[in-house]
Amino acid sequence: MTDSFDRTIDYVRIAVTDRCNLRCFYCMPAEGIPYEPQAHLLSYEEITRLLKILGGIGFRKVRFTGGEPFLRKDFMQLLENTAGLADFESIHITSNGTLLQKHIPKLRALGITKINLSIDSLNKERFHKITRRDDFEKVIQTFYMLIENGFKVKLNAVIMKGINTQDIIPLAELTKDFPVDVRFIEEMPFNGGYKKNIEMYSARDIHADLKAHFSDLQKIPSKHGDTASLLSVPGYQGNLGVIAAFSRTFCNTCNRLRISSKGDIKSCLYDDGVFNIRDYMRSGVTDIELAEQFKEIIRLKPKDGFEAEKMRKAPRKAMQSMSSIGG
Ligand code: GTP
Ligand code: 5AD
Ligand code: SF4
Repeated sequence: MTDSFDRTIDYVRIAVTDRCNLRCFYCMPAEGIPYEPQAHLLSYEEITRLLKILGGIGFRKVRFTGGEPFLRKDFMQLLENTAGLADFESIHITSNGTLLQKHIPKLRALGITKINLSIDSLNKERFHKITRRDDFEKVIQTFYMLIENGFKVKLNAVIMKGINTQDIIPLAELTKDFPVDVRFIEEMPFNGGYKKNIEMYSARDIHADLKAHFSDLQKIPSKHGDTASLLSVPGYQGNLGVIAAFSRTFCNTCNRLRISSKGDIKSCLYDDGVFNIRDYMRSGVTDIELAEQFKEIIRLKPKDGFEAEKMRKAPRKAMQSMSSIGG
């Protein structure tokens, strides 16, 4: 499927829950936000049905996100169902890494080996300050276990001025000894409650820090749909990435659609939901009608995140929490 800007849309991100056991301050308020009741969430059978339809119209990559996806009781069941869908070349998960250790053998058995972990600091105190929880040891242990078990891991760090810019180089140095990609992300205003944003630490600032430290930093060409501009240090095992999530410099190659845990479709991260597929599906429509609806949504996908933001019905003050969007 291509949209009206000739972009191939073949990547769907599904948030399986809006719940999280961490409270990263760039994502949620300290007291959390009201959770959706179970009946409002797409069931795993409904998600499987949507994925079959999306596979039929050309989708080839799926990423499960949350909140924290491993908090959902039937998540492994959902993975089992989707691992068998022939259309999808790869199944990916974005997780905070606190709950997945015990699932490593099963994930391997299902062939699900591409996992992105969020880790914003290698310093226990700073990790606690950012996530408001004491889970640093667990997350770092999960990282080591995933690497030992041959998983393809990417680490995501949201970089904020005055908070964790000193973590950029230590995190980047992980790529020396481990085959891991470390991505540095600009903060976006999706924290579930408007606050004056921390002064922007831009992709350009992050690039400058990396260049200043690694004199032989090299650029790597990006692949279809990459959000990160990729770099590497000669001799290091992994790559580095900088994601201009707020500057939105990669919209011209965007390949994605998002579905929230309650079935709201976002054709851009910056829109405020363009259609509720759960209610439409529960009204008894056929697979063909659902496929047609997806095609229409893709046709209307906005040119970029700035256009999407302009089209929002809700004001900026009401920006959602990333835990309900799914990252
Ligand atoms: P890969 O599939 O491994 O390339 O990962 P990804 O970057 O698609 O997914 P991940 O869940 O690891 O997200 C990393 C960061 O990129 C998060 O902060 C996301 O919110 C941000 N991001 C992902 N997709 C988009 C997008 O379409 N627009 C913007 N502005 N940011 C995005
Ligand atoms: N800005 C940028 N990235 C964010 N994430 C969560 N909230 C924000 C935000 N406000 C990131 C998480 C996770 C990914 C899915 O989204 O760190 O790695
Ligand atoms: Fe939880 Fe992820 Fe949000 Fe942190 S960024 S509070 S880990 S959903």
